Amino acid sequence: MNILAINGSPRKNWNTAILLNKVLEGAASQNANTELINLYDLKYKGCTSCFFCKRKDREHGQCAMNDDLTPILERLKTVDALVLGSPIYFMNITSGMMSFLERFLFSNMIYSMEIPTVYPRKIPSGVIYTMGVTEELADNFGVKTNLKTYHDVINRTLGLAPELLFSYNTYQFTDYKKYESSMFSEEEKAKHKAKQFPIDCENAFNMGKKLMMNS
Ligand SMILES: Cc1cc2nc3c(=O)[nH]c(=O)nc-3n(C[C@H](O)[C@H](O)[C@H](O)COP(=O)(O)O)c2cc1C
Repeated sequence: MNILAINGSPRKNWNTAILLNKVLEGAASQNANTELINLYDLKYKGCTSCFFCKRKDREHGQCAMNDDLTPILERLKTVDALVLGSPIYFMNITSGMMSFLERFLFSNMIYSMEIPTVYPRKIPSGVIYTMGVTEELADNFGVKTNLKTYHDVINRTLGLAPELLFSYNTYQFTDYKKYESSMFSEEEKAKHKAKQFPIDCENAFNMGKKLMMNS
């Protein structure tokens, strides 16, 4: 059994990556093979609307663009579970994750009412979000509403609704003193990190276990 994690944060060792690695640890506890891909190591663009993937005279599910994402899109057709992670930027996913999802999700859908997906398997998935705001502020800004379409399309493409994990009020800098950040209370952030982040990590571990038990 293989699980692939996709890190949509440019930071390889921070909140999103830590939680993704916890998911992979949970999956490994169920004997899964695990791998993490850092999107920001790759050179690629979002969908260019060429519609090659919708052509009647070609095999569906193929993205015609040729770049660092090409082999990843092929690999994705063989995995047993998938976990995506993105920081929240401007109350949405990062541009790297958005471009990746445009390519992955759009190439696996065709404009047919009868055929919801051309993705070859039905696999469980998870999505992890990390963000600086508190849960209350995220709700006020409509973050979950902004993300809903992605969850709906993942459900349609992979055949199952994704498991979701939201990690709020994340710690952003190693040393808050070095950065203008007077709108946050470092003390409150540190308290939240000490109390809540280990719980988020545990929930991520359990997500990994569950994904493999359902695959
Ligand atoms: C360009 C940029 C935009 C951001 N916008 C938001 C935002 O709209 N809402 C929010 O809660 N946090 C925002 N943040 C904070 C990040 O979401 C937060 O620090 C996140 O945990 C970073 O993930 P990482 O530690 O894995 O890189 C932003 C950070 C950056 C760099």
